Amino acid sequence: MRTLFWDETNSRVKMIDQRQLPWAFELLEFDDYAQVAWAIRAMVVRGAPAIGAAAAFGLALAAQRSTATTRAVLLQELKEAAATLIAARPTAVNLTWAIERLLRLANQQTLATPQAIRQALLQEAQRIADEDVAINRQMAYHGATLISDGDTILHHCNTGALATVDWGTALGVIFAAHEQGKRVHVLVDETRPRLQGARLTAWELQQRGISFDLIADNAAGHFMRTGQVQIVLVGSDRTAANGDVANKIGTYKLAVVAKENGVPFYPVVPTSTIDLNLAHGDLIPIEERDANEVLRVGEQPIAPAGTTARNPAFDVTPHRYVTGIVTEEGIVYPPFARNLRRAVESARERIRDER
Ligand code: MRU
Repeated sequence: MRTLFWDETNSRVKMIDQRQLPWAFELLEFDDYAQVAWAIRAMVVRGAPAIGAAAAFGLALAAQRSTATTRAVLLQELKEAAATLIAARPTAVNLTWAIERLLRLANQQTLATPQAIRQALLQEAQRIADEDVAINRQMAYHGATLISDGDTILHHCNTGALATVDWGTALGVIFAAHEQGKRVHVLVDETRPRLQGARLTAWELQQRGISFDLIADNAAGHFMRTGQVQIVLVGSDRTAANGDVANKIGTYKLAVVAKENGVPFYPVVPTSTIDLNLAHGDLIPIEERDANEVLRVGEQPIAPAGTTARNPAFDVTPHRYVTGIVTEEGIVYPPFARNLRRAVESARERIRDER
């Protein structure tokens, strides 16, 4: 089953409620775009490509539910819905990328009526979802060439089927290596504070019968220094034009320790996550979430009452720590500024040709 999808029978968006996993598997359904924005903010759905697709379906939903009878009114309503959806989470560029793609389409003069816009937006959201799955498979194919039989891979956060529409980015590479018959072992960072590693990555690996051990985030350095890790694979929420990589908080620390210990560090990044408009990583907005995520584990407080906390959800890894970036166009190596641009352009050309 896909992480999120459009239900034709009642014209709603359905999503796996990731807050409940691994204890319960529940589907939630959404009937209006504001609810979809809430689901993104509350992390019912999370992971950069998944929230991009969710936002696309959210905007399609706004068009479906609108009672506008003129093109101009509908376009104005879509502009407002787009602003709400984009504001849901600031770091993952896939959100803006998907919404802008739909708005560009909606504004095409060839779509002369509200009904034509409604239909086109739904088709485009579906296309974004389908492309995501195909792109993940392609990245997995390239990325699996980095994995040898017997490797232990260190992985951070959740980058699997749940973080995307299906299959995954960094975890997708591991799934592909496993499918090819390579014996791999994964050290799964628990990924405090939201425990995406412990809850979601462990769940996905278990379902596929892939060997893994859960480790405390603080143990990663120990395993790298003692030669027990052959490669670090992570995802990204936004990668700047120079190859600086924003990803789940804690990724930077991993990359520095990896370099110190000669362990290759590869983010697995669809071109939709590369933001050529930002020259470097310090320009990437970093989401700061509720302090309670740090002050509690689940509902259980872990610090004295009155303790304050800081909770940046992402950090930026400067490109000097990045060995290479796996994209659907192939593995990109330095100089990243030139080679990432080429990858993005080649992906755009391919999409144009496929239409
Ligand atoms: O806060 P989250 O769970 O949405 O963060 C997710 C990550 O940081 C992933 O590594 C990233 O989105 C890329 S994985 C497809």
